[in-house]
Amino acid sequence: MSRFPKDFLWGGAIAASQADGAWQDGNKGLDTQDLRYFDAAWENEMRQENRNINMTAQRFTNAMQAENTEMYPFRRGIDFYYTWKEDLKLFHEMGMKLFRTSINWARIYPNGDDPKPNEQGIQFYKALFTECHRLGIKVFATILHYNIPVHLVTEYGGWKSRETVKYYERYCITLFEELGDLVDYWLPFNEINCSRFNPWNGCCLIKDQEAEYNHAIFQCTHHQFVANALAVKAAHKILPGSKVGGMIARFTSYPATCKPDDVMQSILDENYKNYFYTDVMARGKYPSYTERMFEELGVDIEKESGDIELISENTVDFLAYSYYMSMLSSNDPNYEITSGNLLSGKKNPYLKSSDWGWQIDPIGLRISLNQMYDRYQLPVMIAENGIGAKDILEADKGVHDDYRIEYLREHVRQMEEAIADGVDLFGYTMWGIIDIVSCGTLEMSKRYGVIYVDRDDAGHGSNQRYKKDSFHWYKKCIATNGDDL
Ligand code: BG6
Repeated sequence: MSRFPKDFLWGGAIAASQADGAWQDGNKGLDTQDLRYFDAAWENEMRQENRNINMTAQRFTNAMQAENTEMYPFRRGIDFYYTWKEDLKLFHEMGMKLFRTSINWARIYPNGDDPKPNEQGIQFYKALFTECHRLGIKVFATILHYNIPVHLVTEYGGWKSRETVKYYERYCITLFEELGDLVDYWLPFNEINCSRFNPWNGCCLIKDQEAEYNHAIFQCTHHQFVANALAVKAAHKILPGSKVGGMIARFTSYPATCKPDDVMQSILDENYKNYFYTDVMARGKYPSYTERMFEELGVDIEKESGDIELISENTVDFLAYSYYMSMLSSNDPNYEITSGNLLSGKKNPYLKSSDWGWQIDPIGLRISLNQMYDRYQLPVMIAENGIGAKDILEADKGVHDDYRIEYLREHVRQMEEAIADGVDLFGYTMWGIIDIVSCGTLEMSKRYGVIYVDRDDAGHGSNQRYKKDSFHWYKKCIATNGDDL
C-alpha cells in the first residue's frame, strides 16, 4: 500500500515564457525573457556565460531591435497559447490533479505601469483555468517566473526600484480579484534565490551597467521579499483562506568529506544558497547570519521603514522548491566541477549525471524534504523535478524514455520515504510535463516532458504532440496513487 495521502496532488509544471509563445499576440507587452538569445553555434561554456547568467547592454540593445523568433526561442515556446486545449486533454487523460503554470505579467499589464489591465490577457487565463477545473485539475499559479515587462526595466531599473514593487503589488491584486476563484495555490515568485545565481532572470539587471553587482542583486532581493510579503498580505485579505507559497531552487549540499572544514562549508552553502531565502519568507525575518554574509559579499542594502514589520507579519502558508540534483561542499579547489541547475558545483563520485551533467540523486530529495520540514514545520510541495534528456522520436512515433521513468520512479520512491519520515508533503508538479524550451540553455532538445513536442532548437518541426513511454508510466503512478511504480 502506498503511503501517499489519498488526496496527494500529482501534477505537472511549465512556465509561460518557455511554453506560451505568441509573444506579440493578445496585446501582450515585450517581456524580459523575450530578449534572451540562442545561437546553436555557441560552445557550452559560452552558453553558460552568455545565455544563462548575465545580460549585457549590447545584447539588450540587439534584442530590443530584433524582430525574429528564430534566435529568440522564448518568443515561440511550444505555442501553448494556441494549443492549451489539446494539451490539457492530454494532462486530463494522464489523470493529472494539479497544473502549475505561470502568468505572464506582460499579458496582464503590457508595460507594467499601464493605467488598466489588458482584458485579453485576463480572458486568456480565465479560459485556461476554467478548463482546468472543468477537467478536475487544480491550478497552481506562479505569479512571476522570471519575466517582467521590459518597460519596467527601461523606465525604472527593474527590481532595483521600489516602483517595480508597487506595480507588482497592483498586478497581484488584479490577479486575486480577477482569477481568485480559479486558482487553488499561489506562488508569488519562482525560485526567489535565482536572483543571486542568474541575475538577469532573477533581478532583470544588466551587468555592465552595475558598478556594484552584488549590492544591486541583494537590493533587488530585498525588494522581492517586500513584494512577496505584499502578495501574501493582499491574497489573504482579498481571498480569505487562500494558500500562498514561497519557493526556492534547492541546492542540496553534502560535506565532501568528514573534515570539519567541509562540514562547515556545507552549512554555509545551505544557509547562503537556500535557507537565507526561506528563512525570510517563512520565519518572517532576516536570519542571524545575514550580517556576516553581507559583509563577505560587500553588500549594504537599503530598507524602508515598515519593511521588516511587513515581512514579519506576512509569511507564506507553505514552502515549495525545485529539486534536480545535489552538490558537494568543500573549500578544496581540486574537485572536478560539473554543471547543475543555475550553478555548477563539485562532483560527487557516488552519483551518475544527466546528459547535461546534473547529478542524479533521488535520496537527496528525501534528505532535503526532511531538512525543509524539520526547519519550518510548514507543508511542502515539490514544484519542479525531472530530467532533461535528448529524446528520440522513433519511426513508430514513440519515445522510449526508460531513463526518465527510472529517474521519476526513484524520486517518487524517495518522496514516499519522506512522507513515512513524517514530512507533510502534499504535492508534486513534475517539471516540464510537456517538452518546452529549456530555461538555462534555450534548447528545445533538452527535453523534460512525458509528452514529446515535435520541434527542434531552431523552432522547425510540426509542433505535434506524442506520448512518450513515461506518459503511460506517470498515468499508472497517478492512478495507483504511487503504488504501482
Ligand atoms: C528551474 C526553472 O530552475 O529549472 C525552470 O524554474 C527550468 O524554468 C528548470 O526550466 C530546468 O532548467 P533548464 O535549464 O534545464 O530548463
